Amino acid sequence: KAMERTFIAVKPDGVQRGLVGKIVARFEAKGFKLVAMKMATATEDHLKKHYSDLSSKPFFAGLVKYMGSGPVVAMVWEGQGVVKTGRVMLGATNPADSLPGTIRGDFGIQVGRNVCHGSDSVESATKEIGLWFTDCELNAYTSCSQSWLYE
Ligand code: RTP
Ligand code: MG
Repeated sequence: KAMERTFIAVKPDGVQRGLVGKIVARFEAKGFKLVAMKMATATEDHLKKHYSDLSSKPFFAGLVKYMGSGPVVAMVWEGQGVVKTGRVMLGATNPADSLPGTIRGDFGIQVGRNVCHGSDSVESATKEIGLWFTDCELNAYTSCSQSWLYE
């Protein structure tokens, strides 16, 4: 299985509700490696690019407004299968359908306030990482846990 990177962002509701630490802790405890992290208040233009695939959806304007309503905590996490596993850790898009034990299942109620974003494919991850981070913000280092996580 190949090493991958995914883009994870604690959304404005997750930041306001003090869930940044809990979300970061889940990815750390799993064994994924933190490659980049910053707090940012995204512009409308930036969010329209981020969610460009959804531009025809009826909830698009509300989604862009919500995501720009306060700072997000944007992150890049690395590991084997991190894109798919990251989505499993987030849970279903609608917290009403997300299982307990997932981030949205444990911390959210409505689809329009679902706490955290995660890339849905390796291709989306590459696009999103490029949109949110410059190359020099992506840190190159070897985790001291690496040889205890991977055989
Ligand atoms: P995300 O991109 O934020 O990780 O969420 P996702 O892949 O699970 O879901 P996606 O289809 O990409 O939708 C992006 C975000 O739009 C909001 N949404 N609202 N009102 C609605 O029916 C509706 N559907 C989606 C959610 O905030 C969702 O996370
Ligand atoms: Mg999505």
